Amino acid sequence: MAAPQKFLDFIDSNVPKLIDRLAEAVAIPSISGDASRRQDVYKMGSWLEAQLNKFGVKTEAIPLGQEHIEGQVLELPPAIVGRIGEDPKKKTILIYGHFDVQPANVSDGWNTDPFKMHFDKESGRMYGRGTTDDKGPIMGWLNVLEAHHNLGIELPVNMRFCFEGMEESGSEGLDEFIGTEAKKGNDGWFGGVDCVCISDNYWLNDRTPALTYGLRGLTYFNVLVSGPGADLHSGIFGGAVYEPMTALIALMGKLVTQDGQILIPGVYDGIKPAASDELEIYEKLDYSVQDLEASAGGKIAISDDKSTVLMARMRNPSLSLHGIEGAFSGVGAKTVIPATVGGKFSLRLVPPQQPDDIRAKVETYLQAEFAKLNTKCTMKIEYLHGGIPWVADHRHWNYQAAKNATEAVYLRSPDFTREGGSIPVTLTFAENLGVNVLLLPMGRGDDGAHSTNEKLDLSNYIQGTKLLGSYLYEVASITSKA
Ligand code: BES
Ligand code: MN
Ligand code: MN
Repeated sequence: MAAPQKFLDFIDSNVPKLIDRLAEAVAIPSISGDASRRQDVYKMGSWLEAQLNKFGVKTEAIPLGQEHIEGQVLELPPAIVGRIGEDPKKKTILIYGHFDVQPANVSDGWNTDPFKMHFDKESGRMYGRGTTDDKGPIMGWLNVLEAHHNLGIELPVNMRFCFEGMEESGSEGLDEFIGTEAKKGNDGWFGGVDCVCISDNYWLNDRTPALTYGLRGLTYFNVLVSGPGADLHSGIFGGAVYEPMTALIALMGKLVTQDGQILIPGVYDGIKPAASDELEIYEKLDYSVQDLEASAGGKIAISDDKSTVLMARMRNPSLSLHGIEGAFSGVGAKTVIPATVGGKFSLRLVPPQQPDDIRAKVETYLQAEFAKLNTKCTMKIEYLHGGIPWVADHRHWNYQAAKNATEAVYLRSPDFTREGGSIPVTLTFAENLGVNVLLLPMGRGDDGAHSTNEKLDLSNYIQGTKLLGSYLYEVASITSKA
């Protein structure tokens, strides 16, 4: 069933208001990874709750406990859960999104203030932290609710919401809450849910809508190497002592080759090579090495072959080096020997890799390699967080409904993709609720989530809002059962 014209017209005739809504959300710097911004994450949750209430959604702010961060004990931002519609004859759809964002500073290379949304009329792009990840999509759901509320039309499905403020920092506390609620069955917040829809990823390119049925998992490490009791002068101590940074660079240099092969023994165990029908999927996707290089902003693709590049992102594991905490990184030439340095790296995982098993393999390897260095420095491995990879059945009616909605709004069929990124809660929903989960992206592959000048195209925001609304109508009318 197509969405009512009234709904679509409402979206088209309220564009300035919808832009303002996103700008308001972007203006709250809800950075979950920065203890000093915690108040803003709380504020963002309350703002969202108030919006939901305005459009008739009953909500609750769920406390998720405490967190130890940067030497402080902080209250975790509450999850915001909500419900609207109690009709047993309708399907019940659970929506997930996250209202926290990654850090951003003008000095990182932004052209405008990341927390003051900049709408560039010429390109039709809205720049700001969170525009695409994940405030834009959350506003999309709010826009759908507002349209129905203001027009006085009933939603075609019962809706349940679960929004969190810690996604960018490992979704602290959320898994436990979902587990507890799921056990309550019909009395819990997620009772009666028929399927889940998450809008928190991106199209593969800048032109073809996508439906996503897989995500990679994650294991994140900080390997700390220490030596002296304090930072030292390299003129006084250089050459006379073992240096932590020298050991750390050697260790980090042994994790992965230049072309991305992971060097940790056993990490590839159990991963099957792509069969011919799987290879066909990658061949058919509307993508090119140029798309990758355009969105990366450099001619740096690992291969000239489209399928190789797609498989590297969608179905193979990877290891990335992220940074060295404690290393000198200021301007000028400071002649220092840093006392303790922490090397941060992570692996993206694919089935059947499991975070715990990979963690053990990484730790064993680091210890063995560290011993070979014969340094008097010491090493400590911290495990920061992990998530299990996820793949869903894309033949399910949930995907069929999303495909119908995409065809209605975009007049073309979506790409079926797997994503390289991670949303650990996806698998938690799938396993605890035992229902199908769909990823329905709003933004494009070149939006620059986590990067400088993150943006969302206005057309993706507006058409994306229509898509989310239309999806609800398609779900309501689809006849096949799970
Ligand atoms: N929206 C992303 C997930 C994502 C990333 C989907 C790339 C598709 C492509 C999410 O907000 C995110 O950044 N997730 C983190 C998870 C981590 C902090 C546990 C990620 O993938 O790094
Ligand atoms: Mn996200
Ligand atoms: Mn993110």
